[in-house]
Amino acid sequence: MAQFDVVIIGAGAAGLMCAAQAGYRGRSVLVLDHAKQAGKKILISGGGRCNFTNINASPANYLCSNPHFVKSALARYKAQDFIELVERHGVAYHEKTLGQLFCDDSAKDIVQLLLTECDWAGVTVRLRSHVADIQKTGSGFSLSANGETIHCQSLVVACGGLSMPKLCATPLGYQIAQQFGLKVLPTRAGLVPFTLDKPDLEPLAELAGVSLPVTAQSQDGTLFKEAMLFTHRGLSGPAILQISSFWQPGEDVSLNLLPDTDLAQVLTAMGAKHPNQTLKTALARLLPKRLVEVLAEQGSIDGELPLKALDEGRMKKLVQMLSAYRVHPNGTEGYRTAEVTLGGVDTDELSSKTLEAKQVPGLYFIGEVMDVTGWLGGYNFQWAWASGWAAGQAV
Ligand code: FDA
Repeated sequence: MAQFDVVIIGAGAAGLMCAAQAGYRGRSVLVLDHAKQAGKKILISGGGRCNFTNINASPANYLCSNPHFVKSALARYKAQDFIELVERHGVAYHEKTLGQLFCDDSAKDIVQLLLTECDWAGVTVRLRSHVADIQKTGSGFSLSANGETIHCQSLVVACGGLSMPKLCATPLGYQIAQQFGLKVLPTRAGLVPFTLDKPDLEPLAELAGVSLPVTAQSQDGTLFKEAMLFTHRGLSGPAILQISSFWQPGEDVSLNLLPDTDLAQVLTAMGAKHPNQTLKTALARLLPKRLVEVLAEQGSIDGELPLKALDEGRMKKLVQMLSAYRVHPNGTEGYRTAEVTLGGVDTDELSSKTLEAKQVPGLYFIGEVMDVTGWLGGYNFQWAWASGWAAGQAV
């Protein structure tokens, strides 16, 4: 029988951060993970370069049924704190866009940084460990890992959400919450591509691979201006991933296909110079040519109309159509490709300062397993670091 002060289930972003912090405080810490490798999601994140934080991270960048919940942890461990850690380990990085920081070289540098911190803090990390039979005892918890019984005072659940099962995601965190009577809010895939019904998809099929800047707006008015990508199944790209977290099944999404253009003004100026130019030719200067062709084939625009025939009524209709192009997703690609899981352990059950369950002393939930989901752009890792750090001070 083994005995540790702290057992952490999940050697991912939040779990490793928490482990190092607790270890530095002199706690004996064991991290258990069923995967063969620590930090699998970190390794594939950001296209292999890990978008490890966002310099603009603030509570406004998170979805949570209690929007105030994230404030405490985010205020105590900021993007700057993680940047300092990255710099201390000599990991080279750069800002890509919108405050998103990426490794220059490889996401492996971030996993190595976390494992080095754990090593320096005296943490034991055991991979390929199958956790079962978690029980509350008088002084803490007992559990079995690969058949061995382990006792601990504090148990930290850091086993993430359901996205990407092939990267070892499981519902264990939710099951532990439920076992101890904590409420788990319904989960669904977030930061995920949309799929379209066959009749909507067929005309767009030849656009697969085409991307363009758009603003995407959900029915609750949330709006993101980033790139959109047509795919063989529907729509993807940062603008779509962002808005997918705010979209509810059955709803439309509105796309402004020319977010930076005063279309009426531009077409009027073009028409003054080239009155016989067709609308199709004029629009192909502003939008991807293949997209204009599809819009013409669909009958969404009258492609052969000469610009001189674009009267006020037609112009208004055209501007309206291109600035509020409606798509009706029939769903998303689901957990298979989603970057995150929305919903999870209800934050009302947890202390925002320590992440400890209010009704179960010694039990902690950190990272994605709880009902906190960041936007695309390094915000989810920042939540993993901040919540892991906060619990690491308390366990
Ligand atoms: P995380 O998923 O990191 O770790 C959970 C750990 O628990 C895993 O190691 C898993 O093996 C383990 N586990 C699960 N079930 C278990 C069980 N039954 N027994 C034992 N162990 C178990 N975010 C961001 O900010 N910037 C980015 O660039 C990206 N990019 C990105 C790309 C892709 C493809 C995905 C899928 C996700 C991202 N993300 C991201 C999101 C980010 O990866 C995610 O929010 C964090 O990894 C969450 O950290 P956690 O520690 O909570 O879970």
